[in-house]
Amino acid sequence: MTEETRIIKKKVKKVLDKDRYQHTLGVAYTAASLAMRYGMDVDRAFLAGILHDCAKNIPNDEKFALCKKYKIKLSDVEIAAPSLIHSKLGAVLGEKLYGVKDAEVLSAVKYHTTGRPGMTMLEMIIFTADYIEPGRNLAPNLHEIRQMAFIDLQTAVTKILGDTLDYLATKKQPVDPMTEKTYNYYCSLSEDVSSK
Ligand SMILES: [Fe+2]
Ligand SMILES: [Fe+2]
Repeated sequence: MTEETRIIKKKVKKVLDKDRYQHTLGVAYTAASLAMRYGMDVDRAFLAGILHDCAKNIPNDEKFALCKKYKIKLSDVEIAAPSLIHSKLGAVLGEKLYGVKDAEVLSAVKYHTTGRPGMTMLEMIIFTADYIEPGRNLAPNLHEIRQMAFIDLQTAVTKILGDTLDYLATKKQPVDPMTEKTYNYYCSLSEDVSSK
């Protein structure tokens, strides 16, 4: 771990509650393991994992104030469901508050909840690590998705998106349109592969 990452880890510990910090460590170590599997930089994956939920415990009114301060545009879904804001805001705080300059680390934080069409490897790693870290235990198909993450990351990402959309639909929770867009993108990719 670099000195920068060590310092950021300490700072993030102070702004998260105990359970959220425990989850954060789970994501960071899982992301590091996936980086090892796919030949990516382990420290960058660990750092993105440490940062991904750094805005999660900020009270909603403060979240809105910070978005205003940093001129972060919010969608109607985000205004209605402010918990969705923590990814975007986390990426901006990663830069402004924690001094991270690595654009790909910041974008992995930004898209960790919804993903986006055409994710980079690091973005897919954080998106997946957030879902499969050892502290998670409620999602269906976790056993299978955890294995798949270390076999074929893109297939794991597609499965996570599908299961997330199913879950939100049954719970009648708001869906960020980006999640649907990302799911359709990854489904079309896997159709391309299977039709070859
Ligand atoms: Fe999150
Ligand atoms: Fe998370």
